Amino acid sequence: MNILILGSGGREHAFAYQISKSVLCNKLFVAPGNAGTNQIAENINIGVNDFEKIKSVVLKKKVKMVVVGPEDPLVNGIVDFFDNDEELKNVIIIGPSLEGAKLEGSKEFAKEFMMEFNIPTASYQSFTKNELIKGLQYIESTPPPYVLKADGLAAGKGVVILENATKAKAELQQMLVDEKFGAASKTVVIEQFLKGIELSVFALTDGKNYKILPTAKDYKRIGESDTGLNTGGMGAVSPAPFADEEFMQKIEEKIVKPTIKGIQKRKMNYKGFVFIGLIKVDDEPFVIEYNVRMGDPETEVVLPRIKSDLVQLLKASFEEKLNEVNLEIDAKEATTIMLVSGGYPEAYEKGKEISGLEQTKNSIIFHAGTIEKQGKILTNGGRVLAITSLDDNWKKAIKKSYQNAEIISFDRKYFRKDIGFDLS
Ligand code: AMP
Ligand code: GLY
Repeated sequence: MNILILGSGGREHAFAYQISKSVLCNKLFVAPGNAGTNQIAENINIGVNDFEKIKSVVLKKKVKMVVVGPEDPLVNGIVDFFDNDEELKNVIIIGPSLEGAKLEGSKEFAKEFMMEFNIPTASYQSFTKNELIKGLQYIESTPPPYVLKADGLAAGKGVVILENATKAKAELQQMLVDEKFGAASKTVVIEQFLKGIELSVFALTDGKNYKILPTAKDYKRIGESDTGLNTGGMGAVSPAPFADEEFMQKIEEKIVKPTIKGIQKRKMNYKGFVFIGLIKVDDEPFVIEYNVRMGDPETEVVLPRIKSDLVQLLKASFEEKLNEVNLEIDAKEATTIMLVSGGYPEAYEKGKEISGLEQTKNSIIFHAGTIEKQGKILTNGGRVLAITSLDDNWKKAIKKSYQNAEIISFDRKYFRKDIGFDLS
């Protein structure tokens, strides 16, 4: 079948890489894609939120499966758009409906969902502008640090952690009254601070059955030893080495099963990925957030470890037959290192020529922010390339990624040299 992937990051290149290997894949398209996806698929220059244009591409190119990479189109209702359209309703689309996408699109909705289905998470209260006084009092009555979360999507910037009540109160005012994150911070969730190590767990679901994919640990801060500003992710390791069998059992029983049960009970029409951001406190897992898509850069270490045919898995999820297929995972461990533009996650320049790509070996180079112009590959975003390697253990794998990180060059290239520093 012909398949369309929506998105343009390293995650989408990793999807394209894996899907292009499937015997079920005929023609593969990526919209809008990047220089890397264009080498293994055909890029189509349309936006991921332009549903009408997506429809005309699907019809014109006879696309039978659409894989939605980022959250935006999901939160904007792309799955409902397909379902309600006579010409599109039989096209396989991977992702939840509007209702399911609220698990990512609204922190308050996600918290209420977790409460209803008894899923361990930090205790919380939420406040609107009219409840500012109550919110300030709540901060006064609870111990620091404070975790303030804008309810809606805020491009990964909506979570702020403050070490004292004065700062937390000022932040709450800014979010609610000054609408610091626009409509996204009309409601703010204040939750208990959890101390522990984070990991990402992914499941593919058909709304009632599920398959747990490999775990991953993501490195979000720009600076070494997890310092500095938050980014989209600077590197990842799969599996998360501290997630042993016993801990995974707890995650499955206490979190994955009740989450899928909740999705089913609420009739969410959810055929796609559930990304559960977890924190391990002592030996117990707590949910920090749900995302309704795969993570980036986690996808760049998770998908290369899946031995089964990904298209078959996705098709089974759409057909509610996930229980009939097998998920085979490579025992090899994977790492990825992000090469980013100098200045990221603040202002940075684009258009720098990338060289050395052909000299790399023993890694898979996933493109993120790249573009091809007149035969040259140029930087085109903050996160530029993800260098993924597999080996018997992550320490061996990361050596390969770092060797290749040195070989590739572009002006003001930056990468963290300590991915995995906390794991040995
Ligand atoms: P999120 O955007 O929900 O992924 O949150 C961003 C980051 O904030 C997470 O990766 C955590 O490092 C941190 N965080 C979120 N919630 C909590 C919490 N309740 N306790 C401690 N850290 C948190
Ligand atoms: N790596 C975190 C995310 O994709 O949201």
